[in-house]
Amino acid sequence: MSQETSQQTWTRVDDYLAARLLPDDPVLAHVLAESDRAGLPAIAVSPLQGQLLHLMAKMMGAGRILEIGTLGGFSTICMARALPADGRLVTLEVEPRHAEVAQANFRHAGLADRIELRLGRGIDTLAALEKEGQGPFDLVFIDADKPSNTDYLLASLRLTRPGSVIICDNVVRSGAVADADSTDASVLGVRRFLDAVAAEPRLAATALQTVGVKGYDGFAVLRVEAA
Ligand code: DHB
Ligand code: MG
Repeated sequence: MSQETSQQTWTRVDDYLAARLLPDDPVLAHVLAESDRAGLPAIAVSPLQGQLLHLMAKMMGAGRILEIGTLGGFSTICMARALPADGRLVTLEVEPRHAEVAQANFRHAGLADRIELRLGRGIDTLAALEKEGQGPFDLVFIDADKPSNTDYLLASLRLTRPGSVIICDNVVRSGAVADADSTDASVLGVRRFLDAVAAEPRLAATALQTVGVKGYDGFAVLRVEAA
């Protein structure tokens, strides 16, 4: 074990924890297999992270969930399973190929009636949701193109209510988030997002660093405190 790299340790422990704590889940296994078969990037949340999203949605009693960035629908299904029978999840995706794979996965999961996938640029779809008077959403999961994180945050604030929770994936990026000299577009996007959170008096916020099968990254968790 002394030769083991950090990543090997994180993967071994994630595998151990998932084997102990997560039930066998043929539906989620199917989602990953289909996503892989379709050539989607292997960047879905990990099974343990998906279960955290599921539990957070359930702990909040979320009835309306908004997801920005569907990919193959792994996190979508984790969260949608926490909804009550009359609950609804709206998920936004810009890539038609991802959307197609995700829709098939929602049908396979028996959740197609509870999940509405909207195809298009996130920022345009968010504006459309606002115009339609959709929301307020109880829980928002931001997990799309990182340069747009701040736009997604500001739209999320208009689509939520005091007490709503906003979770944002990938806010650590192997530690690069703390590099003030970074020129990486995603890192800059995350740093601008965190600046916007810090400047927003309506939000209470934290961020947690995570390690696991997906490497070293983290989540921001925000609570809308006031309208
Ligand atoms: C990337 C995006 C993600 O949402 C993620 O969880 C991991 C990686 C990426 O674009 O590299
Ligand atoms: Mg992500």
